[in-house]
Amino acid sequence: MEEKKVNELLGLACDKTERNIDRIGLAWPHVANGANGEYNREERWFWTAGFWPGLLWLCHLERGSERALELALEIEEAQDRTMSEDFLRLHHDVGFQWIPSSLVHYHATGSEQAKARVLKAATLLAGRFNPAGDFIRAWNSNVREGSQGWAIIDCMMNIPLLHEASRITDDPRFRNIAVRHADTVIRSFIREDGTTPHIVEFDPESGEKLRNGAGQGKSPDSSWSRGQAWAIYGFAASYRETGLERYRDTFLKVARTFFSRLPDDLIPWWDFDSDPEDRWVKDSSAAAIAASGMLEGARHEKDPVVRQELMDMAWRLVVALTEQCACFDDSTEGIIRYGTVNYARKKHVNVPIIYGDFYYVEALRKLKGEKGFF
Ligand code: GLY
Repeated sequence: MEEKKVNELLGLACDKTERNIDRIGLAWPHVANGANGEYNREERWFWTAGFWPGLLWLCHLERGSERALELALEIEEAQDRTMSEDFLRLHHDVGFQWIPSSLVHYHATGSEQAKARVLKAATLLAGRFNPAGDFIRAWNSNVREGSQGWAIIDCMMNIPLLHEASRITDDPRFRNIAVRHADTVIRSFIREDGTTPHIVEFDPESGEKLRNGAGQGKSPDSSWSRGQAWAIYGFAASYRETGLERYRDTFLKVARTFFSRLPDDLIPWWDFDSDPEDRWVKDSSAAAIAASGMLEGARHEKDPVVRQELMDMAWRLVVALTEQCACFDDSTEGIIRYGTVNYARKKHVNVPIIYGDFYYVEALRKLKGEKGFF
């Protein structure tokens, strides 16, 4: 695939996204498992709420689509009701919800309203920090009983919100929390072999680590492929934000481990330690997130040999996704097929997922040298 091909793919993805404006409209799509390939309608407060506006923003930035911008802004405005009426349902995932809508809007236009939304989300996230254990708490007790001391690998993707809040307020408090959380992840999540569990449970009073948790992975000792991808992108972003070598080292370690554990077709199984009989269960979204994360790391990598290694790994993932998973016609509203939300609970298996679409298109733009959102 050459640059011409990347442009062609972006054209196809944006054409489809523009067609989807009429089909999806102001809604919160998550998985395209409907009879005619339609995206479902998730609750407004669900953690995936930012990805449809994010895809619209990618389309607007790529080709100046005014219709995409208009809908992205309408959705962002509707998210204000999430912040007020659904406040009690919000948790660590506010970065996923507001980075691809308000943060990108603020960066693109300097909008004061979008800036305030970013700060509100960051303030909520900072309020979840547990100073006894130096971690940001995952979820809420009403949905996960006994989760007061839980932290999850996905949260590495939310902490760029804290770095942005420190820039906005010219106050290091937010950044200090982001650094302390990321250091805890290095200490308590990342295993010797470069893999990570989904959940780590701490004693919420003393902060002592108690155990790993399986979460959406196969077991506490396994490597859930999307969790591994969140670690790749999350540490690339932490390195970008801080320039701290320990984040670069961790990013490289988890990225190389991810790539070395891929099957021959380069589309990961839902868990790298999946039982052989379950290996038909793929998670293309993990490949898309990992590709975009590797390209994020490559953008900030000073060593040209390492940069090339990262570019090569990401390129191979994008080629595999394009050849095996991409769909640019309207047989499904999704762009990237064969993603799996949660095989541990047998939920949404081998279907298009909105964040698979988002990170694939974001990765394509990064291949052209454009910035990402996270
Ligand atoms: N952040 C939850 C997931 O990756 O499914």
